[in-house]
Amino acid sequence: MEQKIFYIKTFGCQMNERDSEIMAQTLSGHGYIESMNYQEADLVILNTCSIRAKAEQKVLSLLGYLRKAKKNRPSMKICVAGCVAQQEGSRLIERMPHVDLVIGTQQIYHLEKHLQRVALEGSLVVTDLRDDYEIPQFLPEINQLGRAFETHLPCPSPRPWRKFVTIMQGCNNYCTYCVVPYTRGREISRIVNDIIEEVKAFVKEGVQEITLLGQNVNSYGKTNAVAETGASYTFTDLLKEVSQVEGVARLRFTTSNPKDLTDELMRSFRDVKNLCPQFHLPVQSGSDRILKRMNRKYTTSEYLEKIEKLHDYCPELALTTDIIVGFPGEEDRDFEETMNLLEKVRFHGSFSFKYSDRSGTVASTFAEKVDEEVKVARLSRFQSRQDEISLERNREYIGTVKEVMIEERGLDGLRGRTDTNHIVHLNNCTAGHAAGTIIAVKIIHAGQHSLQGEVYNLH
Ligand code: SAH
Ligand code: SF4
Ligand code: F3S
Repeated sequence: MEQKIFYIKTFGCQMNERDSEIMAQTLSGHGYIESMNYQEADLVILNTCSIRAKAEQKVLSLLGYLRKAKKNRPSMKICVAGCVAQQEGSRLIERMPHVDLVIGTQQIYHLEKHLQRVALEGSLVVTDLRDDYEIPQFLPEINQLGRAFETHLPCPSPRPWRKFVTIMQGCNNYCTYCVVPYTRGREISRIVNDIIEEVKAFVKEGVQEITLLGQNVNSYGKTNAVAETGASYTFTDLLKEVSQVEGVARLRFTTSNPKDLTDELMRSFRDVKNLCPQFHLPVQSGSDRILKRMNRKYTTSEYLEKIEKLHDYCPELALTTDIIVGFPGEEDRDFEETMNLLEKVRFHGSFSFKYSDRSGTVASTFAEKVDEEVKVARLSRFQSRQDEISLERNREYIGTVKEVMIEERGLDGLRGRTDTNHIVHLNNCTAGHAAGTIIAVKIIHAGQHSLQGEVYNLH
C-alpha cells in the first residue's frame, strides 16, 4: 500500500476533536501516516467550527494560506470538514477552488470512500444531513494515533489516558443565537451497546478518564431507540452503565442544558462514585428577558434552584458556565443581572463570548443589535470579575489534599488535573509518575487558572 501523509487541524468543540480522531483513525487504517507539518502532507484536513464569526474567519484565512502550499505541492488534496463545511457546502469551493473535498458533519465516517471519489472524479461536496442517520461504530485503536514517525514531525500526544466518547449528534433546541442545529442536524443518539463497547475498547488501551459528549446530553435516548429492547433509557442510565465499566477511574460529561437537567441526573453527582465533582452548566445570561429571547426555556430562578440542589447532593462540585454578552436587545439592566448571577453562583470558571450573528439563526434577524464597544466593555467587565472569583475559589483549595491525575511533563515539572478539573502544577516532583496515574497532592498555591501542589505522603 502506498504510504501517504496527512495533516489535520481541528477547530471548535470537543465533538470536533473526537471527529478528528475518527478521521485520523480511518486514514491510518488506509495506509496514511499523520504529520504535524502541513507542507509535506498529501492530504490536509481542516475540521472547522462556525459557532462565532471569528471561528469561521480563521478557517477562511487558513484556506487562503493553503492555496500557496498547494502551488508548491500540486498533488496536495485539501479537505474541509466540520461545521463550516456543512453550512457552506459548495459555496466553499466556489470561493476557494483549490479545495478538493467539502465533507459534512455526518459524512466524516465515510471519509475514505469520499477521498477515493475525489481521486477519480475531482473536487466533491458531500454534505447530506439525514434525520434518520445511524452513527456508525468505530472502535478506537489508539496505538495507531499520534505516532511519531522518524522522517516526519511527530504529532502531539493523543492523551492516551483521557478520551472523549460521542454519545449523540445534533441538537433540537434551536437556541436563537446558535448555528449547531443547522450544522449538526437533528438529535440522534448512539446505541447504548456501541457506546459501552467503545468505552471498553478505550479502557483496554489504558484510558482512565472518559468524557461523554453531546450538545445536550439530557436528551439522550429521547429521539430514537437506544436500548436493545426498545425500552426507555435515559442519560442517567447510560452514565451509570458507563461508570460500571471496569477501569473507568474518572467519568465526566458535557454539555447539559439547564432546562432538561433532571433530579435523577443531579443525584448522580452524589451516587456515582467515579463521576467527577465538576459540572459545566451553561446559563448564557442572568436576565429572564434575554433568556426568553434566546429560547433557552428556563428562568434564572430555576437555574439557581438547580445549583442549590446540586450543591446539596455534592458540596464540593466545581461549577463552570458559558455566557454570551451583547445578545440583541441586551440592555444595561440585563447585563447587570448577568453580573448579579455571577455573584450569586460564584462559578469556578466560565467561557464568555460576545454575541456573534450567525446566518440562518433566528437572532440574526433581530433588530436592536448591541454596539461592538458595548459588547467589548461588558465582556471585559464580566471576565475581570470572573477572574477574581476564580482566584478566590481556587484559594479555597489551599491546604487541602486532592487526588490528581498526572497528565504531562511540562518545562516546569509535572502537570496534572484534579477531579474538579483544575490544572495542578507539581514543580517539586521528581518521581517518574506515568501519565494517567492518580496521586495525592497537597495544594500549596492558587492562581487564577491553575493550582500548585506537592506530592503528599500519607505517612
Ligand atoms: N450545546 C451547548 C453549547 C454549544 S456552543 C449548550 O447548549 O450549552 C458553546 C457556547 O458557544 C454556547 O454555550 C454559547 O455560550 C456560545 N455561543 C453559541 N452561539 C453563539 C453566538 N452566536 N455568539 C456568541 N456565542 C455563542
Ligand atoms: Fe446550540 Fe442551544 Fe443546541 Fe446548545 S442547546 S447546541 S446552544 S441550540
Ligand atoms: Fe463549533 Fe460545530 Fe462544535 S459550530 S462548537 S464545531 S458543533
